[in-house]
Order: sequence, then C-alpha cells, then structure tokens
Amino acid sequence: MNDVVNYVTDGNIGVITVNSPPVNALSQAVRQGLLDAIRTAASDDTEAVVIHCDGRTFIAGADIKEFGKPHAEPLLPDLLNEIEASQKIIVAALHGTALGGGFETALSCHYRIALDGAKVGLPEVKLGLLPGAGGTQRVPRLAGVEASLELILSGTPIPAGRAADIGLVDKIVNADLLAEALAYARHLVETGAPVRRTSELAVENVDSSVFDAVFAGLSKRARGQTAPSRIVECVQNAMTMSFADGQKRERELFTECMHDPQSAALQHMFFAERVALKVAGLSDDAPIRDVKSVGIIGGGTMGGGIAMSFANAGIPVTLVEINDEALQRGLTIIDKNYAGSVKRGKLSGDKAADCRGLINGATDYSALGDVDLVIEAVFEDPELKKDIFARLDKVCKRGAILATNTSYQDVNEIAAATKRPQDVVGMHFFSPAHIMKLLEVVRAERTADDVLTTVMALAKRIRKVAVVSGVCYGFIGNRMLQGYFREAQLCLVEGGLPESIDAALYDWGMAMGPISVGDLAGLDVGYKARQAQPEEERGDPAAYRVPDVLVEAGRLGQKSGKGFYTYDADTRTKTWDPEVQAIIEREADALGIERRPIDADEIVDRLIYALVNEGMRILEEGIAQRPGDIDVVYVYGYGFPAWRGGPMHYADAIGLDKVLARIEEFRDRFGDENWAPAPLLTKLVGEGRTLAEWAER
Ligand code: 3HC
Ligand code: NAI
Repeated sequence: MNDVVNYVTDGNIGVITVNSPPVNALSQAVRQGLLDAIRTAASDDTEAVVIHCDGRTFIAGADIKEFGKPHAEPLLPDLLNEIEASQKIIVAALHGTALGGGFETALSCHYRIALDGAKVGLPEVKLGLLPGAGGTQRVPRLAGVEASLELILSGTPIPAGRAADIGLVDKIVNADLLAEALAYARHLVETGAPVRRTSELAVENVDSSVFDAVFAGLSKRARGQTAPSRIVECVQNAMTMSFADGQKRERELFTECMHDPQSAALQHMFFAERVALKVAGLSDDAPIRDVKSVGIIGGGTMGGGIAMSFANAGIPVTLVEINDEALQRGLTIIDKNYAGSVKRGKLSGDKAADCRGLINGATDYSALGDVDLVIEAVFEDPELKKDIFARLDKVCKRGAILATNTSYQDVNEIAAATKRPQDVVGMHFFSPAHIMKLLEVVRAERTADDVLTTVMALAKRIRKVAVVSGVCYGFIGNRMLQGYFREAQLCLVEGGLPESIDAALYDWGMAMGPISVGDLAGLDVGYKARQAQPEEERGDPAAYRVPDVLVEAGRLGQKSGKGFYTYDADTRTKTWDPEVQAIIEREADALGIERRPIDADEIVDRLIYALVNEGMRILEEGIAQRPGDIDVVYVYGYGFPAWRGGPMHYADAIGLDKVLARIEEFRDRFGDENWAPAPLLTKLVGEGRTLAEWAER
C-alpha cells in the first residue's frame, strides 16, 4: 500500500500490517495506507481481514507530532467509520499497548483478539483531550456506561484480560498472535459469524444520578481541568443520542479540547518527560554499566522508600544502618508501607511479599562490597557524607556507582572524598520515595558519561522520571523553591493568613498550598539550617520570623501536631488556630510592616513568578539543560499542575513580556533585589522570542 502499511492475502484472509516505528502512531501515511488496504480488501476475493502491527505494539494512538498542524485527509473518524462499514469481517489483533486512536481503530473492527499481556486504553485525557474517533460512543456500547467512564476519565490502560471481562476484547491468546488471528478470522467465516458493528448496538440505560455523581466528583478528581467534564458529556450522549449525533458532538468537543491551552501544556509535558532522558553530548546508545544489585546507606524517611523503588522493579537491595535498632526501625517502616500498598489494592499480597523479600538489612559496610550501585541517604551533614564516601571508596568493588541522595550539598566535594570521582553522581529522590516519580540526577564535574547514562536508564527501570541537574545549592527544584517559599512568608506577614495563601495556590492548581507543605516537611528543618548560618546571611527576617517563632513555641508542623495549623492526632485533619494569627500580626508589627488586604492574584503571581525568574537563571547557568526539564521537575516533584505545563511553559503561555512587566512591578514596588529580572528573561523579551524558541537554539 505504502511504506508503512502492507496488504497481502493468506488464502481467504486479507492481512493488513502496519509497520511505522517506534509505536505505529496514526500518522497521515498510516491512515492513508489503512484506507487503501481496506478498499483493496473490499474488492478482492478474500472473505475476512486481519489488521495487525509489526514491532513492539499495536497502534499506540494518533500521531501526537501532527497535533496543531492542519488536518490531512483521511481523517481518523471517517477512516474508522469506513472500516466498521466493511461488508467483510475485520479482526484486530492486539499486542503491546493499543491506545487512544489505536484502540479506537480496534473498536471499529468487528472482532478483537489480543495477546495475553497486551494493554488497551484511552489515555487522551492525559493530553487534555477526549477520544475523538468514536471512542466515547463505541466503548459504552460494548462495556456499559460506568466501566467506560472509569476507562476514559482515568486514561489508565487496562490489561487485555480485564478488557475481555468487560466486553472490549473477544479472545485472548498466549502466543503466535498473527497465526491465532488468522485462525480466528477463518473460524468466524466458517461459522457464519455476523459482521458485528459496534455503532449499531444500543447503550444500556443508567440512571442520570450516575452522571450527576461523576460530574460532582470531577471537582476533586480533575480539579481545574476542562477535558474530563466534556468526556462525561460525550458518554452521556452515547446513551441519549444516535451514534451519528453522538460522534458529531464528540468531534466538536475534541476540537474544542485541542484548541484549549491545557492540551498544549499536557502535550508539552508528554514530550518534555521523554526529552529529559536525553543528555546533551551523549548519544542514545552510549554504553551503560550493568546494575544487578543496589546498596542503600541510611534506612530513614528516604532510604526506606528508595529501597522499595528498586525492590519493586525486581532489583535486590542491601540496606545498611548504624546499628540493629535503627535497622529494625527502618525495616518495620518498609513492612508497614508494603502492608499499606496491599490494603489500598496497589499491590497483591504475593507481589508485596516478593518485593519485600528482595530487601536485606546489614549494619556493616562490608555488605556493600559486591553491589553495583550504592545510594547514600543519611542525615544532611556534609562531613558525615564525605566520611561515608571515603569509606565506600575502600569497600566497594571497582566500577560500582556511588550516589548521594543529598538535597543541597555540593556533589563535587562529596566526590572529592573518594579516589574515583568519575563514579560519583547525585540521585535526588523525593519523599515519599517509593511513590514520587521524580529523580533529579546530579551530574558532578567529573561524573563519567557512562555513569550518567546508566543512572538515566535505571530511572526508567524503576519507573521514575529523570532529569539531569548541574551542581548548585538545592539543584533545580529546591533552589527554585527558596524564592517560592520566601514570597509565601512575605505575603503572610504583609497581610495574608495561612489558609488564604494555601487556598490561592491550591485553587490555582498546586497539589498543596505552600504553608501546608512547610507543616508537612517540618518547620524545624529550615529553622536548624538558619540557626547554623550567621544572622546576616539569613536574608530578609520578614521571610522567616514567623516560622522561627512557631518552632520556638514547639509548633514544628504535622509531626508535633501543630505548626501553622493544628492537626487532629488521628485523622490529621487541619484546623485554623487563632494563636498563629496573633503571632503573625505581632511579628508583622515588630518588623514595621503595616498589614494590608492581599488578593489571590498577587499571591499566585508572586510565588509562581519567583519560580520562573529563578528558573531563567538556572537555564542561563546551564544547571538545567532545557526549559522542559524544569517543567518536569516541578510537575513530578512539587505538585505543579501538569495542565499548566510546568512553570517555564506557563511563562511562555502567559507571554514573557507580561511576566517581565509584573516582575519589574514587584521589584519597583518592594525595592527587593530578589525581584531583579533574570538577564535571560530580559534578553528574550527584547528579542521577541519565547523560551520554547530559545530552547531550539
Ligand atoms: N505519537 C507520536 N509519537 C509517539 C506517540 C504518539 N502517539 N507515542 C509515543 N511516541 C514516541 C515517543 O515520543 C518516543 O519518541 P522518542 O523515542 O523520539 O523519544 C517513542 O515514541 C517511544 O515512546 P516511549 O519512550 O514513551 O516508549 P514506551 O515503550 O515507554 O511507551 C507508549 C510506549 C506506552 C506507547 C507511550 O509512548 C505512550 O503512552 N504514548 C502515548 C499514547 C497516547 O497518548 N495515545 C493517544 C494519543 S491521542 C489520540 O489518539 C487521539 C485520538 O483519540 C483521536
Ligand atoms: P532520616 O533522618 O529520616 O534518615 C537518615 C538515616 O540515616 C537514619 O535512619 C540514620 O540512622 C541513618 N544513618 C545516619 N548515619 C549513618 C551511617 N553512618 N551509616 C548508616 N546509616 C546512617 O533522613 P532523611 O529524611 O531520610 O534524609 C536522608 C537524606 O535524604 C538527606 O541527605 C536529605 O537531605 C535527603 N532528602 C530528604 C528528603 C526528605 O523529604 N526527607 C527529600 C530528598 C532528599
């Protein structure tokens, strides 16, 4: 047919093969090839047709790279309607991940056979879209309304077995997919099976309260997002409209979503996450070291979660603690975390036991002699870390990678404590480490290329999203966070209250407000760091006086039952405490600040633009490789709303000139040198360029 779609006959069966690496996405060439093949099959003497794919997967969706470009015929819904209208039986043979438009292609076929282990799904919502080629109309006809809503609103692919249970797949086979699909097609022909068109089925009727409940739940489940309510509308239409009308409305809403900035932001995130894995100057096929076992030093908050991340990927872990008591404490927390995962249905009991069985404890560094990678996660004390690296240098085998999970320390200095700085790298996980997806990989001056490529590949194995950072205080994420937290504290003393500041950021889309984040992390952490600094180096007292007073009053945050808020001992529900308001007002007074009403727009702009301004500096210094890397850090590590695309994409979407004007306004109004615009921002505005354009330099 063409370069990417082939058509041959096998006896009385026509065989259409899509071969468009890497994931057989529905580019114009694939759509055209499929249309030509279907038309050829319609006019030859075959009796049925099989559609299958070469390579790692059945069609994984529309070609995201074509989004935003002018529509090129044939359009997918028209193609799929023509497939469904065929007079000959068409069987889709699924392997890998049949997603989005790929699964919709399968749904337009009359029968579906899948290899065990295949997955199917409609992940469009994760791109700010809805299935736009009949998915919202065909799935309810096969699987019912409630299963459809779950599949399409979650965007999470389901195993073929589950798909068979709910009527989306007809047959599961264990091997030889194409041969099985041919046999199945012949069987259907021989038994006189009907040409079964999904669009002709009726949708089971459900009470409208089902939709009311789902709509109501969206305010929590999909806070701020526009696509989910449109999805629910489409599924409801499937019940109340004809297929043709339902599909017409689906197309209108799909087009609306496509023009929504949320979809642009989520598409940006899709590519940013994948590009982040590529390290400038290193080729994709650079050599990597074999990592079969891992050692972790320190089984506290971070070490335990890091151990679970590796064990969950089938990699054995040796956890080293200072003594038996500390080791038992660490292992007990790991046991509790696994029990929690089983209780929440995230892991089966057997799987949890298998993973837990991969974690062994030790109290002697000699247990690390044979591991391929060691991750140090002890207290944030530079001297202790250097001492540990000097010891690792003595016990670890040659070629072992030595990583530190430090949040702030200089990885060059840590590396210098060894005689093998080329093997040292930062692996900065986020808490809780077995859940949070982000991994900042800190490339020190002397980190070897193959150490970096190994760690990036390993991140994918343990299902983390990795971003490379250069060495600086706090790396990408925590360095930017300083300005964000500073502005939160300043807004507080200038006129805000913890709940008004939290609400402004939460309503804007952040997973949690900044004041609540402080309570969760523990106010004593920053307090101790400040106490270790000379007073003149602590910056503007207005940015830390209130938390210091709270800590001195024993209000350390959630861990002590009270911080900015007061927490219920059992439920951890937070309540507002007038005592804190009194402290804020008193400190503002002592600092000579006259409190004023401060609105949500100002709060959001000050906090988010503080992130953007520092992000610009980070880019200019080459600490981050590209703007998208910063966006990945903030979305996966700090609860920044993905549908806003991360702080740097957000700045581009608002317009860098507007961002600069607001930053200059803050600089002039507050006379605060922290608001000096980053030179890169001023430069880009002067040149009339966006960050995205700059990134393609
Ligand atoms: N379009 C274009 N390129 C795609 C793509 C797509 N739909 N899906 C993946 N790719 C590219 C990736 O960008 C990557 O390119 P690179 O090698 O140059 O970085 C390459 O394929 C491999 O992707 P991954 O690294 O993600 O490979 P994995 O094996 O880890 O995962 C996957 C494969 C599960 C298919 C994953 O890529 C994925 O989830 N893709 C997106 C699927 C999707 O969202 N489909 C729906 C699209 S919207 C749609 O269909 C609208 C319709 O309803 C009209
Ligand atoms: P933690 O205090 O919970 O745990 C540290 C553990 O290290 C303790 O169990 C302690 O017994 C053990 N330890 C101390 N000295 C040791 C030694 N010589 N040998 C073996 N074990 C030793 O600390 P946490 O929070 O897990 O932090 C660890 C590191 O991770 C720090 O560098 C921190 O900055 C970093 N980090 C912390 C994050 C967090 O949210 N807590 C997030 C990301 C990084």
